Amino acid sequence: MLEIKNLCYQVEGESGQELGILNDVSLSIADNKLVVITGPNGGGKTTLAKAIMGLVPPTAGSICWNGTDITHMSITQRAQLGVSYGFQQPPRFKGLRVKDLLALAAGSEKLTREEGCQYLTRVGLCAADYIDREVDASLSGGEVKRIEIATILARRSGLMIFDEPEAGIDLWSFARLTETFKAIHQRREATLLIISHQERIIDLADEIVMISDGKVAKQGPKDEIFPQILANTVAGCSYMSEGRN
Ligand SMILES: Nc1ncnc2c1ncn2[C@@H]1O[C@H](COP(=O)(O)OP(=O)(O)OP(=O)(O)O)[C@@H](O)[C@H]1O
Ligand SMILES: [Mg+2]
Repeated sequence: MLEIKNLCYQVEGESGQELGILNDVSLSIADNKLVVITGPNGGGKTTLAKAIMGLVPPTAGSICWNGTDITHMSITQRAQLGVSYGFQQPPRFKGLRVKDLLALAAGSEKLTREEGCQYLTRVGLCAADYIDREVDASLSGGEVKRIEIATILARRSGLMIFDEPEAGIDLWSFARLTETFKAIHQRREATLLIISHQERIIDLADEIVMISDGKVAKQGPKDEIFPQILANTVAGCSYMSEGRN
């Protein structure tokens, strides 16, 4: 179970004033649920994901994963406890090949070529074309995004956080990726926390959390929250106007 209590993240603004990026966020996510976090641009979704992974230090509140308080743990410690995060904009690693990155993620130098290829197939990549490629600037945005998602699948973590997995991904690969999320969820392999603006991903959710202005603006079962979001966006975009931008 992931339990976030009263989480805050404040930074100093340009004129020295306190700027609340996360303002008292509390969430409980039961094991093996698929939860979609959505909401307006600049609302605080990525910051929340980064705080869970340890990339952003909360200024107040706590984060517990499976009963362990991870609030002040390092990224490595969190990763060892089974937390993983796929960046909204993944980094590239010049000199590192896709097969090596997958082996590193899997924590096994013995990851076979076939296993590596299977992870690539699950994100809609033609494995033979990519397994020996370098994870460098020669890869397109959508390719590097899918390779990063494959590394998270290879890690087989208990908590997988994906930050806008749809970003830059073509329609065909997106359909494949959606099936992969669905399969992980159906097999109850992991808790999935997916930040997304995409209807087809939101539709997979057990629960939806809407983050706006650094706060939980709505939270509940998909069947309850999704119609509200759709109604709001159709009726003059109040979902967007509630945001920071
Ligand atoms: N270190 C920082 N200093 C100042 N502002 C910050 C900092 N980190 C984040 N922000 C601001 O906090 C807000 C939330 O950013 P965040 O990246 O979490 O939004 P988001 O909900 O993921 O948006 P998007 O949908 O566009 O990805 C934004 O307005 C961003 O500019
Ligand atoms: Mg973001």
